Amino acid sequence: MSHRDEIVQLDKAHIWHPYTEMGAYIRRTDPIVVARAQGAWLEDIDGHRYLDGNGSWWVASLGHGHPRLVRALKQQVDTLAHCSLGGMTHEPAARLAAELCAIAPQGTEARDRLTRVFFTDNGSTSIEVAVKMAVQFWQQQGAPQKKRFLALDGAFHGETLGATSLGGVELFRRPFASLVFDCIHVPVPDRYDLAFEALSTLVEKEADGLAAVVLEPIVQGAVGMRMVPPAYLAQMRALCTRHDVLLVADEVFTGYGRTGPMWACEHAGIVPDMLCLGKAFASFVPMGATLVTERIFSAFTGSRSRSLLYGHTFCGNPLGAALAREVLAIYREEHVLEQGEARAPTVARAFEELGKVDGVLRTRALGMVGAADLAVPLENERGYLSELGWKVSDEARKRGAYLRPLGSTVYVCPPLNIAMPDLEQLLAILHESVVAALASEGL
Ligand SMILES: Cc1ncc(COP(=O)(O)O)c(C=O)c1O
Repeated sequence: MSHRDEIVQLDKAHIWHPYTEMGAYIRRTDPIVVARAQGAWLEDIDGHRYLDGNGSWWVASLGHGHPRLVRALKQQVDTLAHCSLGGMTHEPAARLAAELCAIAPQGTEARDRLTRVFFTDNGSTSIEVAVKMAVQFWQQQGAPQKKRFLALDGAFHGETLGATSLGGVELFRRPFASLVFDCIHVPVPDRYDLAFEALSTLVEKEADGLAAVVLEPIVQGAVGMRMVPPAYLAQMRALCTRHDVLLVADEVFTGYGRTGPMWACEHAGIVPDMLCLGKAFASFVPMGATLVTERIFSAFTGSRSRSLLYGHTFCGNPLGAALAREVLAIYREEHVLEQGEARAPTVARAFEELGKVDGVLRTRALGMVGAADLAVPLENERGYLSELGWKVSDEARKRGAYLRPLGSTVYVCPPLNIAMPDLEQLLAILHESVVAALASEGL
């Protein structure tokens, strides 16, 4: 048995893969067995190379194996690999917290400053703590009735129960309907100005019971890279301020320049009351963070009973903190946002071209993300469970790229510093793969 076959056999005997019907996986999937990764490339155990169009679940904004990150991790391992933040602290976490506050979206008013950081261990828990903070904040402000949340249709905020409750994709919520808390979901229409009036009326009516509005600013990732106009975000901020409802920006996906500026909130010039981070934040070490304003933080001081009784074993882990600091240093010193900005027009042009292909319904691009919705003829095959995106994925694999669809939406999410020839190759593979998949369907 080859080395590869042995790994696949062990995998199929024991691993339960995420978001996967395991019966079909075990019968039919011939997985890429990744052995190494560098820059925009994944390399399998037999030396075949694939451009990582998915950024390994939107993490690799600096590509894989950036030498500075590898060095920073090794150095940190040699000195302090783990210690808790339970009444102790350490340099990587303390310096990281200060650096994050310095670069977070800033307003002109003191109340518009994100000054405190709560560390968590992934994107979902950065949301989970935001939910708990919001509820306890209002209790300690003497407004315990403010405990409901408002989120957008199509939202995805992670997999813990609080995050699932905020999720606006019915398919993900349905199995857990008996467990999730009540959340008002509002539509995000194409003509946001038409719906905003209705939303405004709704928030006004519900404000007395609303703890927070939670949203993915500008791009809703998991629902299919759906883009929301900046004016929608700006108006939402104004609405929350007017009715004293907290605004939580989930920048787990959109942060770190994915949509152009460091924060998607900058498209609308707004400052949220809480900013949730994950994914690219600490590159290849799982880590999350929730930044909050001084107003929120100070509601938890004064007596022991007011503390936030929440924490994770690995929150502020020194390895993650050291990596997250090095990520920020690389962004500054290697002008990563500028690199993304220089490459974004190439992504936009490629998706514009893709939009001309028969069978492609619509395309969109912003910063270093581009997406195309494919026409799926049968109503019951549309949405997340559609097979068509997987056909594109299969075609891409034959041509040397790893693409992971969101149902009938295909997208790329390459490193911001990807080499131009790699980017062009990835976009060409995507185009050819879409054409081939549509042709195989007779579309
Ligand atoms: C916007 C957003 N929030 C939260 C999460 C959850 O992050 P994690 O998978 O690290 O828990 C995701 C994951 O895709 C996401 O896209």
